[in-house]
Amino acid sequence: MAVEAIFKVDKISKRYPIGKREIEVLHNLELEITPGEFVILIGPSGCGKSTFMYLMFGLEPPSEGKIYFNNQDIFAMHEDQRTELRSHHIAMVHQQPIWIKALSVRENVAFPLLLHRIPKSDAVAKADRMLHVLNLEKLANQHPHELSVGEQQRCSLMRSLITEPEVIFADEPTGNLDTDSSIVVMELLKTINEQLGKTIIMVTHNMSHMPYGSKIVSMIDGKIVNVEVKRPPASPDNNKGISDILGSWADRNATATTKPASDSSATGKVQTQVKSKPSLAQEISKPQTKVTKP
Ligand SMILES: Nc1ncnc2c1ncn2[C@@H]1O[C@H](COP(=O)(O)OP(=O)(O)O)[C@@H](O)[C@H]1O
Ligand SMILES: [Mg+2]
Repeated sequence: MAVEAIFKVDKISKRYPIGKREIEVLHNLELEITPGEFVILIGPSGCGKSTFMYLMFGLEPPSEGKIYFNNQDIFAMHEDQRTELRSHHIAMVHQQPIWIKALSVRENVAFPLLLHRIPKSDAVAKADRMLHVLNLEKLANQHPHELSVGEQQRCSLMRSLITEPEVIFADEPTGNLDTDSSIVVMELLKTINEQLGKTIIMVTHNMSHMPYGSKIVSMIDGKIVNVEVKRPPASPDNNKGISDILGSWADRNATATTKPASDSSATGKVQTQVKSKPSLAQEISKPQTKVTKP
C-alpha cells in the first residue's frame, strides 16, 4: 500500500506585488513528501527555494494551489491550528540561528517546551540531557553568542528536536559553517532522519551534501525541474534497537567543546575518548509533565 504523503504540494504558485506589477516567484509546483524522506531542495540563488520552504512551513499562503500536511489543507486551517502545527509537528532551522539573547544556551534549547507550558524544571532538564548527548553540556550556561557557529547550529538542531516534531525544515543550515562543522551538522541530520525517522526538508547549495538526500528536488526560476528519488524513506521502525548507534553518534562526531568561545571555526574532531551515553532517541522520548491550560 502506498504510504500517505506527510506533505502534498498541489500546483502552487506564488506572486509578489512589485509596484503596480506582480512577479511570479514560484510556478505551478507539485511535490509529495512521504514520512522519513530526506528531501534536498537545490537550485541557484533566487530560484525560490526559501519561499517554497516558508510556504510549506505555513508562514505565507500560496497565490494559487494548496499545501496539505497529513491531508489537511494548511491554509484552510484556523491561524491557531497553523500555530499548533508549527509548534508541535514541524520545526525550522535557519542558516543563522535566531536566539533569545538574554537566555542561556540551555534556556534557549528548552524554550519551545516552555511555550508548550511544560514546567521550566522539566524543560531545562530535557534540554540538558539533549545537550549532554552531543557533548555540549559544558556550553549550557553560556550565552549563544559565546559559542562557535558550528556549536550554535548543533544547539539549534537540539532546540528544533526538543518538541519531537515529525518534520524538520532546514534552510541552508551549513551555509555559515566551515567544511568540518558542516559534516558534523549533516551527519547529525542524517542520524535524526535515519535513526529517529524524522522527515527532513533541507535547502542547500553544496553539491557535496547530495548523498545525504533520499530525494533531490531541483529548482530553477521558480519551477521544479527534476525530482530524483535515490532511496526509500527512513523507517521510524528503525527506532528499535538503535540506542547503540545513536549513543555512539557523539563519539563518532564529537567536536572539541573545550575550544575557546572566540574560536568560530568549531572544526576540531575530539581528541579524547568520550564515554558512552544515552542515545538521542532515549533522551528526546523521556516522559515529560505537561501542564494544561487552567
Ligand atoms: N516578500 C517578497 N517580496 C518580493 N519578492 C520576494 C519576496 N520574497 C522573495 N522574493 C523574491 O523571490 C525570489 C526567490 O527568493 P528566495 O525564495 O529567497 O530564493 P532562494 O532561497 O532560492 O535564494 C527572489 O527573486 C526574491 O527576491
Ligand atoms: Mg534562500
